[in-house]
Amino acid sequence: MAELSDIGVIGLAVMGENLILNMASKGFRVTAYNRTVDKVDNFINGRAKGKNIAGAHSIEELVGSLKSPRKVMLMVKAGKPIDDFIETLLPHLQEGDIIIDGGNSHFPDTERRVKYVESKGLRYIGTGVSGGEEGALLGPSIMPGGSKSAWPEVKPIFQGIAAKVADGSPCCDWVGDGGAGHFVKMVHNGIEYGDMQLICEVYQIMKDVLGMSADEMHEVFKEWNEGELDSYLIEITRDILAHKENGEPTIDKILDTAGQKGTGKWTGTVALELGIPLTLITESVFSRCLSAVKDERVAASKVLTAGPAPAFNGDKKQFIDQLRDALYAAKVISYAQGYQMMRAAAKEYGWELNYGNIALMWRGGCIIRSRFLGNIKEAFDNNPELVNLLLDPYFAEKIQACQEGRKVTATAISNGIPAPCLGAAINYYDGYRTERLPANLLQAQRDYFGAHTYERIDEPRGKFFHTNWTGRGGETASTTYDV
Ligand code: 6PG
Repeated sequence: MAELSDIGVIGLAVMGENLILNMASKGFRVTAYNRTVDKVDNFINGRAKGKNIAGAHSIEELVGSLKSPRKVMLMVKAGKPIDDFIETLLPHLQEGDIIIDGGNSHFPDTERRVKYVESKGLRYIGTGVSGGEEGALLGPSIMPGGSKSAWPEVKPIFQGIAAKVADGSPCCDWVGDGGAGHFVKMVHNGIEYGDMQLICEVYQIMKDVLGMSADEMHEVFKEWNEGELDSYLIEITRDILAHKENGEPTIDKILDTAGQKGTGKWTGTVALELGIPLTLITESVFSRCLSAVKDERVAASKVLTAGPAPAFNGDKKQFIDQLRDALYAAKVISYAQGYQMMRAAAKEYGWELNYGNIALMWRGGCIIRSRFLGNIKEAFDNNPELVNLLLDPYFAEKIQACQEGRKVTATAISNGIPAPCLGAAINYYDGYRTERLPANLLQAQRDYFGAHTYERIDEPRGKFFHTNWTGRGGETASTTYDV
């Protein structure tokens, strides 16, 4: 009888293939299956040749080739294909077997699937896998959640193939029950959107306000990547800016309309549902939406001509340092918001999230990997109950030192350059540190037109008052419920 495999993987697109090769390179035997079976043969005779990888031409063959409890990982498109494969697999699997979804599924779907598969006596894991093509092959960040009893079964494989940080710790740990793994991956993607948009805003300010060339910007990003901003996204930006096509910067040839596959939108929608001011990430999604209406913008640029023409006559070197500080501070603020959202979700869904471990999972392998995630890990290790990352002593001091960076947003606005995420960051920071916001007036307005009541500063919290503002209204107040 042929040797049994440690795991089966369904789906031979780029992520599936690379994960299989990664698993095999770490000593695990893998069976590969794809609905279009030609792909299986091509893979087995191509990239998988001579490796510890078997090919299956049917679900029966796949399932029959696996050690018990069987582990089948789906690397297929999120949505209906996952539900279809679950239905296809169920009759062939046995009690205790494990179905794993390694795609970008929305966490409520995973929550539902965990319950469903468990109701059939099997186990289910929904896991975020980040790092793109290269990460999947060489070491991704892996964020699994679902049926907890399945974790020890998959742990050696997942931690074996995951990226490792300098001390050898894997960028993979158990996240939590139900859809927790895919939730954390969704927040990762939202943060990815925010980081990318922040870099784009800094790029446009350098280009349009300072008049810098791609080569000059390349040098700045190169320098930044050697300091506190050291991260994968700064690194690839550095390289993108140096890339040439017939001697011209390739970046200048690319159309300015952003695509998106939806995880950023989910992050924004869920933030609204949870009532978390995830302003920076949400702005980054809207920025992609605005970029997408290219034709409208081109037409508007001919009509809405009022606005300043960029002009800079300050100290360029000093302004570039301010840009670096603004970018760093905005990143900290974005992560602070992302962590607020995870805290709110943990409460809402009853997950026990370990925030330090999440930072470690993101420290290497994934798209948002960066040096400063090491500092975030320390912040939450020092205080797992940290209410807001901005209140961590290390980050509070860092942000204090970045105050000159606020001049960047002012300069962008006075030069007519959009910088929505840099603006969202500074506005959140200033709002969060303001003892008395103008919501007193807002409450008065609500009470004026709808008798929605308000609390008073000279009375205990939880006591509600109504004023008959016009003398014409009655004394009857509305109910005080909040969503
Ligand atoms: C990752 C990425 C990945 C995502 C792409 C595309 O962690 O490896 O987040 O999962 O699908 O970045 O995302 P958009 O098309 O939405 O930009």
